[in-house]
Amino acid sequence: MTEPAPGADGALAFPDGFVWGAATAAYQIEGAASIDGKGPSVWDTFSHAPGNVRGGDTGDIACDSYHRYREDVALMASLGLNAYRFSISWPRVQPGGRGPANSKGLDYYRALLDELGEHGIAPTVTLYHWDLPQELQDDGGWAVRDTAQRFAEYAAICGEAFGDRVARWITVNEPQVVANNGYRHGQHAPGLRDAAAAAAATHHLLLGHGLATQALRGLSTAEVGITLDLHPIRVLGDGRDAVESARLITDAMVNGIFLDPVLHGRYPVHAPEAMLPPPALVGDTDLEIIQQPLDFLGVNYYSPIFLGAGDPDDLRRNQERARSAVPGVVEYLPDWLERTTMDWLVDASGLRDLLLDVSKQAPGLPLYVTENGRAAEDYVNPQGEVDDIERVRYLHTHLEAAARAIDDGANLAGYFVWSLLDNFEWAWGYQKRFGVVFVDFGTQRRIPKSSARFYSDVVRANAVPPVPAAWPR
Ligand code: FCB
Repeated sequence: MTEPAPGADGALAFPDGFVWGAATAAYQIEGAASIDGKGPSVWDTFSHAPGNVRGGDTGDIACDSYHRYREDVALMASLGLNAYRFSISWPRVQPGGRGPANSKGLDYYRALLDELGEHGIAPTVTLYHWDLPQELQDDGGWAVRDTAQRFAEYAAICGEAFGDRVARWITVNEPQVVANNGYRHGQHAPGLRDAAAAAAATHHLLLGHGLATQALRGLSTAEVGITLDLHPIRVLGDGRDAVESARLITDAMVNGIFLDPVLHGRYPVHAPEAMLPPPALVGDTDLEIIQQPLDFLGVNYYSPIFLGAGDPDDLRRNQERARSAVPGVVEYLPDWLERTTMDWLVDASGLRDLLLDVSKQAPGLPLYVTENGRAAEDYVNPQGEVDDIERVRYLHTHLEAAARAIDDGANLAGYFVWSLLDNFEWAWGYQKRFGVVFVDFGTQRRIPKSSARFYSDVVRANAVPPVPAAWPR
């Protein structure tokens, strides 16, 4: 790849052949939750149980992309995108997570892949974006080892059925969120609050990734990788001993616990023991299986974690208890950084630092930003437009950070904005809008926002214009 060079207009160019896409996930957009033989997933069950999702929202209809995929592919083509990251719903392909494939489920994904092919859009396909077949959950879900084997079988079905049409496979999306939000803290399906189950799920998600990678290798020449949500850890103040030790522990808890096994075949030494799988769960060759050679690593970036000195029992403004539980240390939301409607910090420099850091840890391994974006209070104005200036600003600064990271040596091969469409944002339901395309959920009308036009201009130019000194209001 050639390095980006500033153009005459000050724009930062991306390397030739850079992959430009948008990302979605099955449960968040497809709808059609129980037709054509699809079985229930943990998210169907979880969203239908009162109190789990804001406003009682479910993914029953979502963006109805199951029926409207042609329109959605045409939208991407009109934006000039050359790639699309979507996920396959496991229970659409294997309704109970075991046994023969549901032919109507296969037909849907074949039709979607064909449609993408006709528009010259390369498919990046996630096999697991959180919608585990409910029947497997009834048998223990990711807390039991068998689920990793079942996942490899499902991966083989997908490899065989779609292997010739897929550009790259992502085995698992954000196992950290599955283990912590799904099994430890319960805000996501399956809604467990069980530390032992979370530690076991951590290992079995990783094992599932390794076994699925092996299964795909024989069936498809497409690239294979995994997507991790990674969080740069920032330290405020003088980085005194306690803060430095909290930094190492926090990094191991949120990043290393998945990154180290995948890249280096070991769990991080600084991870708290309670988060690690007990030795009895770890088979002799498990870590070798988990450390399969990868063709790329998918990185999802939203925000960093700040640590500083403070008293967890006497929290001050913008302070929170530190997940590392190191005495004298708190997590901190600096007031000089903007926060999104998710209350997530906006810090574009975190993306640059993260890409450089991972490139150092895995020299030569291509990276893709497989998700990056923000929620905002989007609305249709009287002119019928959605002028999402906050998202334009976010994309502009983050794309600039990505270009600078490449310039400084990061091995970044592509970028996928989260998300193509406003969609079902898990426990937040439809309240949080992340799309570059607005969805009117009453009519299913799609309206490209200002950010879609901005992103499309960057994609077509393969370059990001200079960040303005002052933003238009
Ligand atoms: C990520 C998820 C994705 C979406 C974004 C906002 O953690 O992978 O599905 O919800 O957050």
